[in-house]
Amino acid sequence: MPRDATALSLGADAVARAIAARAEAQGASVQVVRIGSRGMFWLEPLVEVETPRGRIAYGPVSAADVHGLFEAEFLHGGDHALRQGPVEDIPWFGRQQRLCFARVGVVDPLDVADYLAHDGYAGLRNALAMAPADIVASVTDSGLRGRGGAAFPTGIKWKTVLDASASCSSESGIPNPRSLPLIVCNADEGDSGTFSDRMLMEGDPFCLIEGMTIAALAVGAEQGYVYLRSEYPHAHRALEAAIANARATGWLGDDVARSGRRFDIEVRLGAGAYICGEETALLESLEGRRGQVRAKPPLPAIKGLFGRPTIVNNVITFASVPLVLARGAATYRDYGSGRSRGTLPLQLAGNLRRTGLVELAFGATLRELLYDFGGGSASGRPLRTVQVGGPLGAYLPESLFDTPLDYEAFAAAGAMLGHGGIVAFDDSVDLFEQARYAMAFCAIESCGKCTPCRIGSTRGVEVLDRVRAGVERERNLALLADLCDTMRHASLCALGGLTPDPVQSALRHFPEDFA
Ligand SMILES: Cc1cc2nc3c(=O)[nH]c(=O)nc-3n(C[C@H](O)[C@H](O)[C@H](O)COP(=O)(O)O)c2cc1C
Ligand code: SF4
Repeated sequence: MPRDATALSLGADAVARAIAARAEAQGASVQVVRIGSRGMFWLEPLVEVETPRGRIAYGPVSAADVHGLFEAEFLHGGDHALRQGPVEDIPWFGRQQRLCFARVGVVDPLDVADYLAHDGYAGLRNALAMAPADIVASVTDSGLRGRGGAAFPTGIKWKTVLDASASCSSESGIPNPRSLPLIVCNADEGDSGTFSDRMLMEGDPFCLIEGMTIAALAVGAEQGYVYLRSEYPHAHRALEAAIANARATGWLGDDVARSGRRFDIEVRLGAGAYICGEETALLESLEGRRGQVRAKPPLPAIKGLFGRPTIVNNVITFASVPLVLARGAATYRDYGSGRSRGTLPLQLAGNLRRTGLVELAFGATLRELLYDFGGGSASGRPLRTVQVGGPLGAYLPESLFDTPLDYEAFAAAGAMLGHGGIVAFDDSVDLFEQARYAMAFCAIESCGKCTPCRIGSTRGVEVLDRVRAGVERERNLALLADLCDTMRHASLCALGGLTPDPVQSALRHFPEDFA
């Protein structure tokens, strides 16, 4: 039974209680294990029964279905209207290439022994036998790029930290503990329509812990932080429990895996500001100040948290690393297309029949995602547009649905893949309202540090309102273009810099909505 927040919101706890109560009443020996979600949200709560023929899935199950399931002998994989068969045989699931999410929905997320039994800590074991520079080289060779949004090559970031920490060592060559590099995991997951970080932390938290520990070995860090959004109480509980279990079993602490190396992790909660997902604002917040963007340079890799060289990576970036070290860079590199290597956990949200998490190698098309996996619109009306990559992503029309999901192909289409969130809209959407919302969102979430974003976004809402009211339309459209140009090129960070993307893509592809 899933313990994932989506399944819980759909009644998973009540189903688990009903199964346990009914089993006790009829003297059946049943162990209910709470696992992560397989990411098929339309089937949640999904109950999986361990049988000699593998796990048989039933869903979506409500507490009221439990009586009938027992009558149908579901504990032995019996037939029932809700029977979905073996999970791997469900086409939606079987077609995926699950690397990062391989254990999610399979293991007990808080059981170290279960993690070890499913290839857990194989990457860390290999890393312990490697020199720091070789760990970094392996990550570089894998082609892994940051999954938080900017797609920056992870190995290059780690090498910058490794080099910076070497130059921070005292002249005697003995590193000063106060200048050791730090590891920061960005778990703010603020983009609309995204939930892969949450699912990973709830369903396989040791994978994140292992990835951060490998990063620590690569650059000589002894302390890590997870900056987690406070809106994720279930992920928070899972992470804290997993960190405590890792400490108790010697995978974190003063002597990691009896290697003599020290590394520990602390979870810090954010307070709900979108800008605190931006890495420098995140560091300000971690240091106890208001989340406001820092000018770069210096890069966080050189002067980050508390002035120390810092690796800041997204949850999925860290969680991709154990596999790279366990199976080798070439294995990971084999997946993907062009310069986008490996897999991306895509998140289907919005007006789709089947929403959830799909992990695929880069290169599949948006159309495959929307129709083969998503099943088209939930409303039954034609899909008109999708926004990919969060609230700062462009709106793509149907004519661009054949764009392959890779970073460069999306950039060529004037869009970005970002964190892999895909929000679909049917033909009832008003793209003017969406464009206006982008400017209003920027005005609310702006950290206020630079003028183009702080003032420009408010002026942007006003100009759009004049366009729609038909007041000096051509002049105001020219003003909007000018304003977007200024925001794009003169903003200090990507919040102001990318807000023009949803606005101008809406105007370019759907001018009729601005009439
Ligand atoms: C406004 C804004 C919000 C962001 N929010 C997030 C976020 O919620 N999670 C995240 O991982 N990265 C976010 N980023 C990207 C981070 O600044 C940074 O690039 C990322 O943490 C680096 O990790 P990666 O290389 O593993 O992607 C955001 C960036 C901007 C400009
Ligand atoms: S672009 Fe906006 S969020 Fe970014 S630094 Fe400037 S004011 Fe702050």
